[in-house]
Amino acid sequence: MTQSLEQIIASASADFAACADAPSLENAKAKYLGKTGAVTDLLKGMATLSPEEKKTRGAEINRTKDAIEAALRARRDALAADALNAKLAAESIDVTLPGRGKGQGGIHPVIRTWQRVEEIFGSIGFDVADGPEIEADWFNFTALNNPPNHPARSMQDTFYVDMNGTDGLPLLLRTHTSPMQVRYARMHASDVTTKGKPIKVIAPGRTYRVDSDATHSPMFHQVEGLWIDENISFADLKGVYTDFLRRFFESDDLQVRFRPSYFPFTEPSAEIDMKFESGPLKGKWLEISGSGQVHPSVVRNFGLDPERYIGFAFGSGLERLTMLRYGIGDLRLFFEGDLRFLKQFA
Ligand code: DAH
Repeated sequence: MTQSLEQIIASASADFAACADAPSLENAKAKYLGKTGAVTDLLKGMATLSPEEKKTRGAEINRTKDAIEAALRARRDALAADALNAKLAAESIDVTLPGRGKGQGGIHPVIRTWQRVEEIFGSIGFDVADGPEIEADWFNFTALNNPPNHPARSMQDTFYVDMNGTDGLPLLLRTHTSPMQVRYARMHASDVTTKGKPIKVIAPGRTYRVDSDATHSPMFHQVEGLWIDENISFADLKGVYTDFLRRFFESDDLQVRFRPSYFPFTEPSAEIDMKFESGPLKGKWLEISGSGQVHPSVVRNFGLDPERYIGFAFGSGLERLTMLRYGIGDLRLFFEGDLRFLKQFA
């Protein structure tokens, strides 16, 4: 028995209403509007009708089709709204919660010291230089008057990168920033001899040694200083370095002591100690830096005449300065990345 158009609309609406999701709704749609669907059948059934009948029947079928399409759209919208509501319910957020924030990075305390050292020495005319951490044996040792087999080398055991690096001599992780004295001076030696421009530089950076305990780390930071001209004396070293310490520690009542020592690249050599007159370290002398008058052989390796050019150098530990400034007892704290520690300096 053929269904009336009203029945077809009613059954389509009922079928659509019974669909619980979009895929089943699309299946149901095919049953009415698809190629073999009910509406198509109705259209096929018109073939035998007279032109007059076709007109009225056609109009009825179109209304039927429109009604089914309207029912389909309504159901589609309803299902989409349901899906959205379900999603919103599942992903419900509590808009009254406080925001998480982005978190803010801070400058590492050792880098803070690095910046401060650059600022202080920059203000008295020192250039700032940077050089390779993988260094040639010649720059790290030999040029600094520390030839192969010299016993002073054993104080600075390091990590060798390539035993046959340059000219059959090893490439290594630099054990101090002192090779930068040689690199910088050789680059600027002609400014000294032709323009009378002194060599006046600091070179902060990372250094490496086979050392690891509470006061030593396999990687640490130093700052090298070098001032060479025709008449730079040990008195200049004392003045410049003492002034630096007073400014770095923001204290005028610091006492500074130059204690005789040995380094192959300086003669005479001194270790610089500092005495705290106040604060938690009151009364204590602490070693801050190596220093000295640059050895004539080293001046020669700069490409300068040691009979004419003279000056001082120093090499200070940036971790050491940082530990003293903030009263930190264990150097390993700097490298553990513990935010509870680092945040105190942010
Ligand atoms: N390079 C030395 C070290 O790491 C420190 C040092 C001593 C540097 C004397 C200097 C200096 O420039 O003159 O132990």
